[in-house]
Amino acid sequence: MNTESDKPLPDQWSQKAQPGEKLFHLANKWRASPAFMADTTRLFAAFGFAADDFADQIVVDVGAGSRLRSRFFAKARLAAVEPLADDFVGEISWCDLDQAESLYSEPAEKMIEPLRGQASLVMCINVLDHTYDPQAILDNIRSYLRDDGLFLLSVDLHAGADELHPVALTRESLAQMLGKARFEPVRAYEGLPGSPYYGHGWAYTLVLRPSAGQRCDVDAVQPVRLRGARWGWAYRLVFGAARTLKRLLKPNP
Ligand SMILES: C[S@@+](CC[C@H](N)C(=O)[O-])C[C@H]1O[C@@H](n2cnc3c(N)ncnc32)[C@H](O)[C@@H]1O
Repeated sequence: MNTESDKPLPDQWSQKAQPGEKLFHLANKWRASPAFMADTTRLFAAFGFAADDFADQIVVDVGAGSRLRSRFFAKARLAAVEPLADDFVGEISWCDLDQAESLYSEPAEKMIEPLRGQASLVMCINVLDHTYDPQAILDNIRSYLRDDGLFLLSVDLHAGADELHPVALTRESLAQMLGKARFEPVRAYEGLPGSPYYGHGWAYTLVLRPSAGQRCDVDAVQPVRLRGARWGWAYRLVFGAARTLKRLLKPNP
């Protein structure tokens, strides 16, 4: 459990990463379009889930963004934790966060007491590297889960951090944090159905369950390579060249 939720928010997260994240969502054409749910449906199918799963059970969408991927689970009762929720609901016409049964406009580092022991599934997609204390988030998620619950964690792995992604994530650092939070892997995936990553790095997804021990051996499950993983080299070539070109063309200050 996170016992330090009252400590001041780190400057980089509150003054750089989150304002940048808000602008990104305000201008996001993909999330505003029908392609968002079509792609999300493909994503959950690739991760081994069906729309009827978790009927009448609680699914917690952690770092839900401006539109609920969790609505894929059409019969589930949804809770969402999203620090920009109030801004998104107030400023984005297509935002559907108000469709969740309960919505918490809070960082996931903060323990949400009413969720303790309630969730059949907690999902956290492309969030952990955007946060400021990933261990606290994983500890909180562990306490939201029922004993028979599942945790879907999908991240972009990247060794470096930047303004929008304050947390660097490697398989090793992730395994260490998941062990501390007492999770064990059930299945794993590399890449996404249509691309190698969400934004940059390398997409890595784990479906986990609560465990008693403090070791998470992610190598115990062989990751399924999704179609998009094949195109990692091409993405790196094209986007790497574009980034270099942009840097070269940028006037010196
Ligand atoms: C790239 S978006 C992903 C949104 C959504 N999960 C999706 O897949 O569409 C990252 C989200 O993480 C949220 N986020 C950033 N820091 C967070 C934190 N400390 N706790 C919970 N969510 C956070 C951001 O506000 C943003 O909505």
